[in-house]
Order: sequence, then structure tokens, then C-alpha cells
Amino acid sequence: VLIAQEVTREHVLGKNAVVIDVLRATSTIGTALKNGCTAVFPVVSPEEAFEKAGTFDKGSCILGGERGGIKVPGFDTGNSPLEYSSDAVTGRSLVMTTTNGTLAINNSSAAKHLFLASLLNASAVAKALLKLPEDVMLVCSGTEGIFTIEDAYCAGMIAHILKTEGKAQLTDMAEACRIIYEMYLGRPLDLLYLATHGQKLNRIGFADDVVYCSQTDLLDVVPVYENGRITKL
Ligand code: MLT
Repeated sequence: VLIAQEVTREHVLGKNAVVIDVLRATSTIGTALKNGCTAVFPVVSPEEAFEKAGTFDKGSCILGGERGGIKVPGFDTGNSPLEYSSDAVTGRSLVMTTTNGTLAINNSSAAKHLFLASLLNASAVAKALLKLPEDVMLVCSGTEGIFTIEDAYCAGMIAHILKTEGKAQLTDMAEACRIIYEMYLGRPLDLLYLATHGQKLNRIGFADDVVYCSQTDLLDVVPVYENGRITKL
């Protein structure tokens, strides 16, 4: 699936799903979990986020996320992975809402296993998928209902591993993503600079995030969603 808004229960039922939002939601969630965040609670709207955060003891939860790429007024943090350092997140929960990423996660919640991937952890997620027998649905979040090439590249990387190591049969769409991956193999930052959302993040002051999110296999963490919360596998 190429955009968050398109995912239905039928797409993922009985399958394992992988939600991908390279810029930046799944990069940020993976980073927060790697750095000691206990669990991430992805919600769809800022209103829901305030409500959910209110159920935690004071200080035990961070309220994070963005609209238009910018921190939501009243939130503790935005959607920059660089904000989620060990000092900031260790031992705390994170309630998060983003424009596309947390929507894709919630729309995919009926999957048998639901993992989150970015370039930072694509190989770790592929390795986890190879151990499971079910078919896989790769869910690219896109941005505001529009296809994004960086998510397709990441889906292509996972598809490539599943094909070469697991002998998986790819749909034409997964094969198309794999071809994008092969064309930009070894130079993901060039692709992120080509991407509309990469250019937007550069424009609005998040150039460092684009560079950070381009790092392939920096993290060995596999975020898994179950019953409204994301933890490490
Ligand atoms: C999203 O979920 O829409 C993105 O992660 C947007 C962003 O770059 O903050």
C-alpha cells in the first residue's frame, strides 16, 4: 500500500504488516525505543493525544508529535528523532501523533504482527519477517495522501531482502519499490534530497533530521505494535 489513507482492515488481516514513514515518524519511534523509551502510544489526533497523556502519572510520559512538520502547541516534543535522546526518554512512555505515520499505524492495527520500519532499522525488521510464515503487507505512509519516494525506497529494501533471502514472491508494486531501492543503492541521502518531504524538512529547519534518517541499519530495534502500544520485539 502506498499511502496511509488507503490502508483497510482487509489489506492486513491474516498478514504481517510493516508501516514505513522514513521522514520521520517511524525513524523517530525506532530511535525513542532504542534510547530507552518504555512504550509508544500512537494516536490519530492531538485531542486524543492530550487525553491519553492525561492518564499517565506526571513526568512518566512525553507528549510528542507534529502537524505540518512542527511541534503541536502544548506538546513536549515534536517529531524530530534527535529530540528523543536517552536523557529525554529513558524509562518514560511516549504518546505520539503525526500527520501520516501514526494514522498508517492505526489503520494497519488488524495485522497479525505489525512492525515499524525506517532506513534506520530496515534489515532488523526484514530479519524478523523472515522468521514468520505469513504474507507481508508493506505499508508506505506517504504524506497527506500522496506517494513519497523515500518510503518506497525503504519498502524496496525490505522487499529485496525478503526476495533474496526468503525467496518471497513480490507483487509488481513491491518489485517497483525494489527497483527504486536498487537505483539508489548506497546513496539514500541523495534520494531523501530528491524527495518532496525531504526538501520541505530542509526548508523548515530540519536538515539534520534528513541526514539522520538516511542512515541505513543504524538501529537493531524492531518496534512492534500490539493493543495500542508499540514496544521493542
Ligand atoms: C508524518 O507522520 O506525517 C511525518 O512523520 C511528518 C514529519 O516529518 O514530521
